[in-house]
Amino acid sequence: MYHAEITGWGMCVPPARLTNDDLATFLDTSDEWITSRSGIRERRVSHVNFSQLGLVSAQRALAAADIDANELDLVMVASLTNDSYCPNTASIIQDLLGARKAAALDINTACTGFLYGLHLCSSLIATGQHRKILLVGGEYITHYLNWSQRSSAILFGDACGAVILQPNSERVGLLSSRIGCEADARNAIQITNFGSAYERLSDDFLYVRWNFDGREVFKRAVKSMAQACLEVLEEAGVSIDEVALVVPHQANKRILDALAARLGVPADKVVINVDKYGNTSAATIPVALVEALEEGRIKPGDYVLSAAFGAGLTWAAGLLRWGSRVTPLQASDAELPPCDKTALELLAPHIERHQEYASRKTSK
Ligand SMILES: CC(C)(COP(=O)(O)OP(=O)(O)OC[C@H]1O[C@@H](n2cnc3c(N)ncnc32)[C@H](O)[C@@H]1OP(=O)(O)O)[C@@H](O)C(=O)NCCC(=O)NCCS
Repeated sequence: MYHAEITGWGMCVPPARLTNDDLATFLDTSDEWITSRSGIRERRVSHVNFSQLGLVSAQRALAAADIDANELDLVMVASLTNDSYCPNTASIIQDLLGARKAAALDINTACTGFLYGLHLCSSLIATGQHRKILLVGGEYITHYLNWSQRSSAILFGDACGAVILQPNSERVGLLSSRIGCEADARNAIQITNFGSAYERLSDDFLYVRWNFDGREVFKRAVKSMAQACLEVLEEAGVSIDEVALVVPHQANKRILDALAARLGVPADKVVINVDKYGNTSAATIPVALVEALEEGRIKPGDYVLSAAFGAGLTWAAGLLRWGSRVTPLQASDAELPPCDKTALELLAPHIERHQEYASRKTSK
């Protein structure tokens, strides 16, 4: 049996920043409300498709592991905002990278996608079925937001992260993991009017609405993540005091504070970047992991604990033991094409269409 070591890592955030004050120019909200309820100060808005964010993240991760794309035998992409549903996004990234020998698989468990993916990929490496896997977690979620709904539009942003997984005979990588779903509460996060359950020729089709029960999600998130963390620690025989860093899903600063309090972890051991990027769904954990590495917060052999929750309501936790290398083997020169617009300029046509549609609906 092999262990799946993370040998490469890379992230990509688009440059255009959307601040809370920007949001207040077209929504009935304020910087004070958003910051005090969520801890979010700004988020990014992409000027390119999701696969472009995935490509740059993947190229950076491949360079860090110093392997060629044609050595990969699987590309797995976790996202709920794919470029298209046919073909899948993993095949697009496989093609853009030139990873000709790799199988291509998309998974969608929303915000838990990266940890679900890590669980699956680690198992595939453990059995010897796969040897070099690229796992991408990311979103172009601003594309799907309803810009007339203040309760959800303020929470999310675009980003992507990627890791390379390779077998190692030493006890590194994901030592234990748990994935699950509280499907009785699946309507607490729901994107409507998109999917084969909806009447395709109705006027409302593709006019997505985010049905959201923030309080219910909040309560369940803290409980399910804390419980899953305790279970993975117990399974691995590691105490919470031995954990060097907690890298949780970034949905809301208050959820992160509550999770840290339940686990009894000091604040300086918890990675928090929700203030800079908002909730980037499947991207939050790989992006936080890459930033922690770049900031020197992960040392060789460290125990890193991660947990997430998301639509479904899915939940996941994993305990990683980092390998011997915390720096990239090669630097990558991969970059996104330049962006000549502000975030508000990028969003202007969408905001206008949503507002026009919302006022048409209310006047009916
Ligand atoms: C969404 C969330 C930030 C809301 O915080 P909260 O403290 O629970 O706020 P409430 O839902 O009680 O809303 C309070 C009031 O603010 C209003 N409000 C909602 N969005 C607002 C906004 N952007 N600006 C100003 N007021 C807003 C509501 O309409 C409500 O008004 P009312 O009391 O007159 O009805 C919080 O519940 C949360 O983070 N939940 C989990 C996040 C989540 O679901 N993430 C997605 C899955 S990963």
